[in-house]
Amino acid sequence: MHHENLPSYLSADHLGPWETYLSQIEAVAPYIDAPLRPWIETLRRPKRILVVDVPIRLDNGEIAHYEGYRVQHNVSRGPGKGGVRFHPDVTLSEVMALSAWMTIKNAVVNVPYGGAKGGIRVDPKPMSRAELERLTRRYTSEINILLGPDKDIPAPDVNTNEQVMAWMMDTYSMNQGRTATGVVTGKPIALGGSLGRHDATGRGVFVSARAAAEKIGLPITGARIAVQGFGNVGEAAARIFHDAGAKLVAIQDVAATVHNPAGIDPYQLRKHLAEGGKLTDYPGATEIAPADFWELDCEILVPAAVEGQITAANAPRIRAKMIVEGANGPTTPEADAILHDRNVLVVPDVLANAGGVTVSYFEWVQDFSSFFWTEAEINARLERIMTEAFGAVWHIAQERKLTLRTAAFVVACRRVLEARAVRGLYP
Ligand SMILES: NC(=O)c1ccc[n+]([C@@H]2O[C@H](COP(=O)([O-])OP(=O)(O)OC[C@H]3O[C@@H](n4cnc5c(N)ncnc54)[C@H](O)[C@@H]3O)[C@@H](O)[C@H]2O)c1
Repeated sequence: MHHENLPSYLSADHLGPWETYLSQIEAVAPYIDAPLRPWIETLRRPKRILVVDVPIRLDNGEIAHYEGYRVQHNVSRGPGKGGVRFHPDVTLSEVMALSAWMTIKNAVVNVPYGGAKGGIRVDPKPMSRAELERLTRRYTSEINILLGPDKDIPAPDVNTNEQVMAWMMDTYSMNQGRTATGVVTGKPIALGGSLGRHDATGRGVFVSARAAAEKIGLPITGARIAVQGFGNVGEAAARIFHDAGAKLVAIQDVAATVHNPAGIDPYQLRKHLAEGGKLTDYPGATEIAPADFWELDCEILVPAAVEGQITAANAPRIRAKMIVEGANGPTTPEADAILHDRNVLVVPDVLANAGGVTVSYFEWVQDFSSFFWTEAEINARLERIMTEAFGAVWHIAQERKLTLRTAAFVVACRRVLEARAVRGLYP
């Protein structure tokens, strides 16, 4: 067996999302001011990675093992912060990239966190609730050495929700011998969760889309929107666009794609799904082939599912004027270049989906002070932070003639590297 050719994680040939992230760092490097440049290397190297075995007893008495990860990419600006994903495609490369994007995102919106992310390589769909609880609790115990309200604070991501966060909080609290609400965010309201957190990522997608639309003279009222993913992010974004007078013309999830040029009512669709209906038997839309989703007539395309969806293969066919990345890493670097050439505006993930972590920050602050804010206060603060972040990124993009993605990385990397430089090297 020959192992010499296995790539380092610093290699650009390392396939997967981490490669996408490394190429984004290469793109921003020339725009980092000389005094900070020597520190860029820290962004290419996750601070620490924990790989854990998660064994659980299944309901049928058998024992199953799952691979679990927690990566703290960078903690220069504060404790690690980032979601936990349960998905059969979770890999170390993916968790590394997602943790790095959290470093960038937290700095773009200037919340005092570093970047972290976690995941378990598992398909949770066929699991019973009891199995899911055992999986969550064992994983939390295994990564316990990294966690804490001032060390690393998980949140929901793909296939994890308020209930999973409640189990994580309880497990950590049991291990600590005290109730520690601030160890995770995205918790149920009954447990120190924040009003507005459920919709926060989708709301942030809408706020950044509205700001971008204004810049390119695109009215939101009547704009046709296509959304990939109808989970936490996609469903909330669809609803908030609909409330603002936009028309939801297509939805794609992991199983199917539906279309209605006259508009889909996201409230009715949500109700249909909650009552056990499927996307395909929803009466208000027609099923189309998944590949056709990308070339539908629409003004705004919102990928809100998983990475690597917009590629060199479909980017040339996209008709939208604007892509607003609800998902993390939905666009490959090759597709980014094609969209730039075709004059399609891409509002990048590290800006567009930062509403979730922004309200997670509010939740964490509320937990610390045990003083809770109103939903109106939370939404107003969210709007202000997202609008200001969008303005700063847009300004740099115009000034330096950069894509919004590279401009967002400029804003973020300056903040992270400045903190890193001023802290200095230990010892
Ligand atoms: N939840 C948050 O607060 C948050 C914050 C920032 C970014 N994100 C990102 O948003 C994305 C979605 O997260 P979520 O929390 O909404 O997850 P979720 O599990 O609630 O929903 C995921 C949705 O994507 C669909 N999907 C999955 N794989 C697909 C595929 N291959 N093709 C089409 N559809 C597919 C699923 O059917 C589901 O509708 C992820 O990239 C996540 O990292 C989430």
